[in-house]
Amino acid sequence: MIDYTPLLFRVDPMTFQDIPVVMEIETVSFSAPWSARAYDYELRYNEMARYFVARPQGRDVRLNVPTKRSWWQRLFARSQTIAPLPIVGHAGFWMMVDEAHISTLATRPAWRRRGIAELMLIALTERAAEMGARVMTLEVRASNADAQALYHKYRFEIVGRRGQYYSDNGEDALIMTTPPIASAEYQRFFQARKTETLARLAIGDWVIG
Ligand SMILES: CC(C)(COP(=O)(O)OP(=O)(O)OC[C@H]1O[C@@H](n2cnc3c(N)ncnc32)[C@H](O)[C@@H]1OP(=O)(O)O)[C@@H](O)C(=O)NCCC(=O)NCCS
Repeated sequence: MIDYTPLLFRVDPMTFQDIPVVMEIETVSFSAPWSARAYDYELRYNEMARYFVARPQGRDVRLNVPTKRSWWQRLFARSQTIAPLPIVGHAGFWMMVDEAHISTLATRPAWRRRGIAELMLIALTERAAEMGARVMTLEVRASNADAQALYHKYRFEIVGRRGQYYSDNGEDALIMTTPPIASAEYQRFFQARKTETLARLAIGDWVIG
């Protein structure tokens, strides 16, 4: 369980109301994005799927403010800077027998490299463990070095390759899988990483702009 109280972000189950904002992130994050209808279907009918969104909580996480402000922007600057920011990321997995297969994971571009994907991955892993998952697994584009770096950080290893897996450009997929997530060794590693990530998300200058 993650104690979100001291954090600037929290991860909640995705709802139908979240889909329009999830689509904003989806379309700028993937070359072959899922449709809103696909998310609607997943939430409505796929009993083995779990989807989540990361969102800011509290007044310290603010919207991007323009660097050059007009007189009226300065007048309303305060209300502008404390406006709540909508969802900053989304992620999900399918439980397939004893494997949790990560089906999507994306962070809004302006909020990347701040640990938000890590927070979502931790939430996914904990939920999957509760549901009895032995390992976490996924397919990632062979060219997607950013995502591979994130997964390597959580000890996913490349265990296979699916040739020409992606229909938009014929790119190969790498299959990446964790060690058994309930093992004492992985848990020691995971808890240490979790502590670091939560500390990173509780402090720092979160105002962009
Ligand atoms: C991959 C992605 C989800 C990472 O999101 P993020 O919120 O920026 O990730 P985090 O800030 O939690 O990064 C955690 C770690 O991942 C690795 N990482 C993430 N982005 C990286 C990048 N651009 N270059 C190198 N390493 C990167 C780093 O190890 C990083 O830790 P560090 O910041 O301490 O070095 C994001 O870049 C994204 O949405 N990409 C488009 C969608 C996508 O490719 N999804 C994956 C599908 S399989």
